[in-house]
Amino acid sequence: MDRLKSSARLMIVSDLDHTMVDHHDPENTSILRFNALWEAHYRHDSLLVFSTGRSPTLYKQLRKEKPMITPDITIMSVGTEITYGKSMVPDDGWVQFLNQKWDKDIVIEETSKFPELSRQAETEQRPHKVSFYVKKEKVEQVTEALNKVLKGRGLDVKIIYSGGIDLDILPQGAGKGQALAYLLKKFESEGKRPVNTLVCGDSGNDAELFSIPGVHGVMVSNAQEELLQWYAANAKNNPKILHASERCAAGIIQAIGHFKLGTNISPRDVSDLTKDIENAHPAHEVVNFNLLLEKWRRAEVEDTELFLAGLKAVAHPTGIFIHPSGTEHHIKDHLNILRKVYGDSQGKPLKIWVDDVSASQIGSDTWLLKFDKWELYGEERQGCVVTAIMSTKESNWFTWVHIHQTFLEQSGKQEWMF
Ligand code: GLC
Ligand code: MG
Repeated sequence: MDRLKSSARLMIVSDLDHTMVDHHDPENTSILRFNALWEAHYRHDSLLVFSTGRSPTLYKQLRKEKPMITPDITIMSVGTEITYGKSMVPDDGWVQFLNQKWDKDIVIEETSKFPELSRQAETEQRPHKVSFYVKKEKVEQVTEALNKVLKGRGLDVKIIYSGGIDLDILPQGAGKGQALAYLLKKFESEGKRPVNTLVCGDSGNDAELFSIPGVHGVMVSNAQEELLQWYAANAKNNPKILHASERCAAGIIQAIGHFKLGTNISPRDVSDLTKDIENAHPAHEVVNFNLLLEKWRRAEVEDTELFLAGLKAVAHPTGIFIHPSGTEHHIKDHLNILRKVYGDSQGKPLKIWVDDVSASQIGSDTWLLKFDKWELYGEERQGCVVTAIMSTKESNWFTWVHIHQTFLEQSGKQEWMF
């Protein structure tokens, strides 16, 4: 919450499954485009919030399966659990609030009388969320009956149907929309309400997000029937809601452009990155440099000395690179290793992305950078923490003065190059 000193320029609140994450795209094209856009142009002054139906267990599993960057705030279990930062510090105030008119045992007792409901996995049963599967044809009748009996037992619950199969029972005050309203109120009280907020979703549990006053919203092209029905009945004339023509994260990028919330040109969409020098920010150089490395190793650029010279041009003449193994080289010398690895990932679809880029100015022309860098080879991934110094002393562009890398725990077996 305290990472930004003032209001976020943009706060994106996005669902994960079938919104930020496209389970039908093994190449992860659109999420990687979003990641590069976010880290290069938004991370330093904006906020990323993931809002998922998944429990912490399944959320962490998804992070291992897909190239996801780290959000500032994570809302899990359909708006019943809110955590902050990389270390995921829970919001205890929210938990207190949800205890009102809620008794999980009564919900379990009453729902067990409905043969139409089949209980979801244990990991998905949470302190303020009880979840089932139920067939589409049964959902209306079951919901009505459940509302009645639970009310009779003194509870005030919210029943949400998503994806044409999942039924969640939550305290009335919970849900993705309520959790967002709670956050906005918190920001407001600190005088830091985001300048713009964009909510993104595809299914029933996302509908609430679109009814929060003042926010822009995007329903991705692949949105579920129940969300589109909600939209037709409740929000058809709201110009702040877009049904994108693009799937998943590509729909989010489309909406940023549609609502003019800032640049929506991802560095991954730029054909000549060496000429991509508008909106200069050191984070932008971090993203571009690593994309150039990816393109080289995938043989998507020409194998020329000119290309290598271009990479060397952003290294300070005496800049030092410390490899995670501990060996030390001049950055310029170490870049020669790239001659050996041109196209080495052919057949293995190498992807490189950076996460959680932070840049702080520590002198008139000097910046301290920190970020995680990940490489994915098919199923195998490895990552390292990078600390670096960049300077604008020698040129009007950022040059690398010092790079120090340390392996992250999840390291793979592939040789680490740069
Ligand atoms: C996620 C959760 C599940 C929930 C569904 C819809 O899939 O794992 O428990 O029912 O989202 O909210
Ligand atoms: Mg979804």
